[in-house]
Amino acid sequence: MLPQKHAYIETFGCQMNERDSEIMAQLLAADHYAATNDMQAADLIVINTCSIRDKAEQKAYSLLGRLRIMKRANPALIIAVTGCVAQQNGAGLLKRMPFVDLIIGPQNIYRLPELLDQQTVRLSSSTRSRRCQIATTLSPAFRIPPFLPTITKPSFKRFITIMQGCNNFCTYCVVPYTRGREISRSAADILKEINHLVDNGIKEVTLIGQNVNSYGRDDSSSTGHSFPELLRAVNAIKGLERIRFTTSHPKDLSLDLIGCFAELKKLCTHFHLPVQSGSNRILKRMNRKYSITSYLDKVTMLRKINPEITLTTDIIVGFPGETDADFEETMELIDTVRFDGGFSFKYSDRPSAVSAGFPDKVPEEIKDFRLNRLQTRQNEITQEQNQQVVGSVLPVMIEGLSKTVAGQWHGRTSGNIIVNFISSNHLLPGQIVNIEIAEAGRNSLRGEHKLD
Ligand code: SAH
Ligand code: SF4
Ligand code: F3S
Repeated sequence: MLPQKHAYIETFGCQMNERDSEIMAQLLAADHYAATNDMQAADLIVINTCSIRDKAEQKAYSLLGRLRIMKRANPALIIAVTGCVAQQNGAGLLKRMPFVDLIIGPQNIYRLPELLDQQTVRLSSSTRSRRCQIATTLSPAFRIPPFLPTITKPSFKRFITIMQGCNNFCTYCVVPYTRGREISRSAADILKEINHLVDNGIKEVTLIGQNVNSYGRDDSSSTGHSFPELLRAVNAIKGLERIRFTTSHPKDLSLDLIGCFAELKKLCTHFHLPVQSGSNRILKRMNRKYSITSYLDKVTMLRKINPEITLTTDIIVGFPGETDADFEETMELIDTVRFDGGFSFKYSDRPSAVSAGFPDKVPEEIKDFRLNRLQTRQNEITQEQNQQVVGSVLPVMIEGLSKTVAGQWHGRTSGNIIVNFISSNHLLPGQIVNIEIAEAGRNSLRGEHKLD
């Protein structure tokens, strides 16, 4: 038996990164690295980074700054930087962070054990050669390997990566450069993975990718399934209760997919449809390839086919050249659509993104002002939208028991809204119960357990 070592993984960024961290943890467990939550006790520290905005990138550097000190005290400690900052900066990272041992891009995470073994040999060799290993190839020929997740802790929901990369090249975005071109995973592998999860007690899956509704459309794809066809196949899996997916690009939202919200019983009634701006002029400069009219048409169709659907979105304020008038159009849009929730961000220049070279950058204080106005109004709308379900009885999937309030459970509606309620019944995470909604807050609902 090899001595047990410990790995600490810190994850920044989106669900793709969260899933990649789970995969790395599983690969490491098979390579004699047990997971630890204590950074000080780790023999290996993996920082899975995000580069979507400058702030996200800076978070990785600030953590790495702390690791520099730990590495000085313990030279045997192995430090790996993975994810989008690793891909974006590659060897360039070493200029600021020369103590890093491994730099691994998103397509190369499956090589982690092999790279780690080589590095361990190096660090223990008499020459103590400290050369960092860099694995940042990004090839359109890459195939996401078949991979069956282990279920170590009891859980009832999981993310399933169905595709990687993005072909859209929105002018502000770094993802096409850090995750490469769209590569869809084989439908057979995806279904096998979900069946395996369901056999192990999983009740809800979220199909993830940067642009899931173009699943199966990439040139190299041999999936044999469109995204709606994949959803139908997942819906047919016995024992699975709920299906979610994220993220979708409005231009690829087909009538077939809209129809799924009437047809597929397990498909949750929540759609995250990032609009980014309410101004056609700005959408054009963002290279989003849809107009506000076509976006609104799709919203109408979704709500018509299933009036219970909740809609959430992403919005960027202060894109280069965004005038007060453009911003007012975004404010109008959120009042027209009445999103159930939204994430909004200040525009941030990214190194490889086209818009970094655009003139007319919006001053920081104007971005702050616009973000604040947008979020204040959206919060009011969210509260009003939540208010509308008060009095109705909704199926809620149990997530767990509150750690702070005795007897209080929390779960989610199909529309992805958190519900808190008191119940003395012994409930199980993943179980669906009927809750009568009594009160609405901005971030959650409060209800009463209706005994079925
Ligand atoms: N693939 C998804 C989301 C990708 S990133 C999509 O296309 O919708 C999540 C969100 O981050 C984006 O929707 C966008 O609103 C925001 N974002 C991306 N790049 C950004 C940048 N350079 N500055 C500010 N926000 C950005
Ligand atoms: Fe980025 Fe646009 Fe692709 Fe989303 S669709 S990941 S915002 S390039
Ligand atoms: Fe961030 Fe990369 Fe995801 S940049 S948002 S971790 S795809």
